[in-house]
Formats: sequence, structure tokens, C-alpha cells
Amino acid sequence: MKVVNQIFLKIFWWSSSGSDSGSDSISGTHRKCCRPVVKIAPTTTGVLLIFLFLFVAAICLSSGWIDSSIFSGISYSGCTVQTCPRDYATTNISRPSNLTCPSYFKWIYEDLKSWKETGITKEMVESANKSANFKLVILNGKVYLEKYRPSFETRDKFTLWGILQLLRLYPGKLPDLELMFNCDDVPSGRGPNGGPPALFRYCADQWSQEIMFPDWSFWGWVETNIKPWNQLLEEMVDGNKRIKWKDRVPFAYWKGNPDVNRKDLMVCRGSNEKEWNTLLYAQNWGKESRWGFKHSNLAEQCKHRYKIYIEGWTWSVSEKYILTCDSMTLFAMPRYYDFFNRGMLPLQHYWPIIRDNNLCPSLKFAVEWGNNHTDLAQQIGNTSSNFIREELKMDYVYDYMFHVLNEYSKLLRFKPTVPPGAVELCSETMACSANGIMRKFMEDSMVKSPSSYSPCNIPPPYDPSTLQEFIEKKSNLTRQVQMWQHESQNINKTQ
Ligand SMILES: *[C@@H]1O[C@H](CO)[C@@H](O)[C@H](O)[C@H]1NC(C)=O
Ligand SMILES: *[C@@H]1O[C@H](CO)[C@@H](O)[C@H](O)[C@H]1NC(C)=O
Ligand SMILES: *[C@@H]1O[C@H](CO)[C@@H](O)[C@H](O)[C@H]1NC(C)=O
Ligand SMILES: *[C@@H]1O[C@H](CO)[C@@H](O)[C@H](O)[C@H]1NC(C)=O
Ligand SMILES: *[C@@H]1O[C@H](CO)[C@@H](O)[C@H](O)[C@H]1NC(C)=O
Ligand SMILES: *[C@@H]1O[C@H](CO)[C@@H](O)[C@H](O)[C@H]1NC(C)=O
Repeated sequence: MKVVNQIFLKIFWWSSSGSDSGSDSISGTHRKCCRPVVKIAPTTTGVLLIFLFLFVAAICLSSGWIDSSIFSGISYSGCTVQTCPRDYATTNISRPSNLTCPSYFKWIYEDLKSWKETGITKEMVESANKSANFKLVILNGKVYLEKYRPSFETRDKFTLWGILQLLRLYPGKLPDLELMFNCDDVPSGRGPNGGPPALFRYCADQWSQEIMFPDWSFWGWVETNIKPWNQLLEEMVDGNKRIKWKDRVPFAYWKGNPDVNRKDLMVCRGSNEKEWNTLLYAQNWGKESRWGFKHSNLAEQCKHRYKIYIEGWTWSVSEKYILTCDSMTLFAMPRYYDFFNRGMLPLQHYWPIIRDNNLCPSLKFAVEWGNNHTDLAQQIGNTSSNFIREELKMDYVYDYMFHVLNEYSKLLRFKPTVPPGAVELCSETMACSANGIMRKFMEDSMVKSPSSYSPCNIPPPYDPSTLQEFIEKKSNLTRQVQMWQHESQNINKTQ
């Protein structure tokens, strides 16, 4: 038993240090910080068989045929070591990608436009320290964290986890940088001298230009039991296939927390579902969290022809889950944008709803229009779900992170340094100190091996006239829908 264990560990060490893919998966993590529990019958044949298996596995690993995640089935206990690896593999094995990134990547340049001429000085970064939750430094491929204030729930942890996974995906490719991150909902507004603060966050509006970054939920939202996006997207794509569009309930569905500035929507519940063509449910957060949110399984929520997206205090994480169903999304035109929704257009990806005191009639009209034009409504639903599935898959989320960090770092006018109070951060220490569902989400969203391709190629920036045209098109299409609604209501009045 002891001998086998030693052989096991030897091969394991040898195989991962000998692997030119430089992969250092969660099993690599465990190797360093946890004690493997392997139960083996001490018979000679057993030992030989296991030896053979390990030998083959080691060859596969070292030659890069399979990634080392095959070992993640082994259970571990007792994470004790809390240190990061001394060096990371930075072998440059990836081939150039022939993919062009989705067009919403163009907004990276728009977010960084304020500093195009001036660059970003150390003072500009530091000045954001009043509102930032943390400062992150990347230096020679290592990550350092200086914490300022705790964030709501586990937002900061999973955002940092995501950045660490990005480094595992593209080891040695990320430039040195220093950045400030804010995990709150509401944008902080103007920086010093009226300029925008050089601050990363999840959403912004037109008055608070900041640098957009994917939110924590792409790696899992522990408090609501929402799984990491790589996993959930697959489940939702399957769930979406279960009921054909035409067989779905022909009303507009919404379920969520009404207490965050959504009272106007709840009025549209009406006396019955026919009054405004809606089915609206208030999520009981206390009860749902006791039940582990089993009753709000997102993969089961593509049962209606129409789904409503409406902001709470600010943007809502639910956006991508709603758009994934090929139901037509009734998109209450948001005040806030996130990193991807600026790439979508009314009547292509969603049906625009103006959130004014006409909200209920607008929802009713949209449903009626869709039920009269089922092919077009279906097509809009299809475009949004294709967009989410193809352009917002995890590969592109990582590529977006890569490019926004890369473009940002080009603007820095100072050499990044590790602040005195900062600690080094790595997947090993983060995963080891987590347990329960947090640990599970981290394992499930862990990048198992480096990408064999470079990130997609970022498209060139919008030229000002194309950008103007895009914005005009968006408002024209929204106006178009309003005109249809007015015409229809006038006809009804004259009848
Ligand atoms: C990796 O290779 C690419 C081209 O294949 C090159 O552009 C890049 O600079 C290299 N990166 C490092 C860190 O050597
Ligand atoms: C990119 O490469 C893949 C595989 O190497 C190939 O199948 C695909 O056609 C290429 N795409 C373009 C746009 O060249
Ligand atoms: C924030 O920056 C200011 C000015 O650079 C500095 O005086 C202050 O100590 C910083 N605060 C923190 C919490 O680091
Ligand atoms: C839907 O069709 C019905 C019957 O043809 C018509 O009365 C109604 O005005 C139409 N509604 C919309 C919004 O197209
Ligand atoms: C939806 O999109 C897919 C992929 O582009 C296409 O194959 C399918 O025919 C479309 N379905 C409808 C109903 O438009
Ligand atoms: C928007 O509508 C205006 C007025 O109807 C029209 O002149 C303009 O060309 C439209 N712009 C776009 C981009 O569709």
C-alpha cells in the first residue's frame, strides 16, 4: 500500500513536471496542498494493474494526449499547504488563432477611449482606491492582491478566481499591470477632475464611463446556487430543446426579486394572465435559499414563448440566462450596460420595451404581435440564443478578459509594482481554502490545461461614423416598434 502510494506520487510528479503542456490542473493543486486518499487492495496483481494504469496515464499526460483532469475523480482531504508554486509554466506552445472575436469586443476601445491620448498614470489608478474593493497586480505572470473593502457576498472571490483561470488558460501571455476593481452594482460616477476613474466593474451607464469586465457569475454564484457558466450553458441549451417554440405557453414570463425597483413590473400581473399577457412571479428569496434554489432551476425555464428582462437597481445577472432560451426576450431597454449587451440590436436579438408608464400595454402588445407573427418572433428568439451560445461561450469570455486587460496595460504610463501590503494569489491557495459548494464551483470552473491557441483576434475599433450609425440604428428600431404599437392602439380606438 505504502509502496504503491509512493509510486503513484512519483509518477504524478514526474508526469506533470515533464509535461510540456505546462498543465497544472486542480489535481496538480491537490498534489501540492492535499493528501490523496487512494484505497488499494494489496495484492500483487492489483499492484501491477494499477502500476500499468498509472504508467499509461503518465505517458498520456506527458505527451499531452489528455489533460490531467482525469485525476480529479480521486478524493482528497486535508488541504494544508497554503503556498503558490514558485514558477508557472510559460512555455509558448500556443498557435495563433484564426478566429476574429465577436463584434462586441470593439467596445473595449470605447471603454478605454478616455485615456487614449493621456495614457493612465499611477495617480489615475490610485485615485480609484476610495471606491475599489481591491487592487490587482499582475507581474511576470503572478497575481497579487491588495484588499480594501469586502464585497457583497462572494463577488470578489469569484471574480479573482476567474482572473486566475485566465492566467491558467494563457500562461505567460498576460502583460504586467495594476488595476482597481469595484464589485458593487451602482457605478461610482466621476473620478478626480471630472474624468472617469480608471476602474474595472461589471456595469456602467452613459454618465459613468468605466471599464467593463465579466461578472462573478461566470464562475458560479454560490449564494443562489447558480452553477458556473460553462456547465450551465450546456444544460440550458439542452433544456431549451425540450419544448418546441410553438408548443410553449404564449405569454410573457418573469420570475425574480420585485423589491429592487421593479414594482412597476408587478403592476402588470393584472387580474388574470389575459389582462396583460404576462405570468409574473415574485421569487421568495428566503424560502428559495433554504431549498437551495431547486425550484428555480434555470435549465427548466424555457417553457414560455416570451421572457422579460428588466433591470433591478442596475443590470441583472439574469440577462444571459433569459437570452439563452430561444423564447423572444422582451427587453426593457436598460439604463446600464455590461460587457456584452452593447453588441445586441432590437428586433434582431430582442423586442425592445420602453419602461415608462405604458409598460403593461407595451408587454401586452409585444406578446400579441409575437403570436400574430410567430415566425419572426421565433427568429428573434433564435438569434439571441445563437448569440449567447456562440459569442458568449466561456472561450470568448476569457478572450474578452484577455483583450481588455491587454489593451488597458498598453495605456499604463508606469511600471507596475507589488504594493507592500499585497499577497500573492493563485488557484492552489484559493481552491484549498474553499469548501462546500464554493469548492465545487471552483473545481467545476477550473481551467484544466492551457489553450493550444492564442486568444481570438480583436477586431479594429469602430470608426466614429460607423459607431454613430450603429447607435442610430438601435434607436430607429426601437422607435419602429413604438410606432407599430401606437398605430395598433389608434386602430383599436377608432373601431
Ligand atoms: C508567443 O508566440 C507568439 C507567436 O507565436 C508571439 O507573438 C509572442 O510574443 C510569444 N510570447 C512569448 C511570451 O514569448
Ligand atoms: C480556422 O482553422 C480551423 C481549423 O484549423 C479551420 O477548420 C477553419 O476553417 C479556419 N477558419 C478560417 C476562417 O480560416
Ligand atoms: C488612496 O490614495 C490616496 C492618494 O493617492 C492615498 O493618500 C490613500 O492612502 C490611499 N488609500 C488607500 C486605502 O490606499
Ligand atoms: C393580431 O391579430 C389580430 C387578428 O387578426 C388583430 O385583431 C390584432 O390587432 C393583431 N395584433 C397585433 C399586435 O398585431
Ligand atoms: C435557428 O438557428 C439555427 C442556427 O443558425 C438554424 O439552424 C435554425 O434553422 C434556426 N431556426 C429557426 C426557427 O429560425
Ligand atoms: C434612422 O432614421 C432616420 C429617420 O427616419 C433616417 O434618416 C436614418 O437614415 C436612419 N438611420 C439608420 C442608421 O437606420
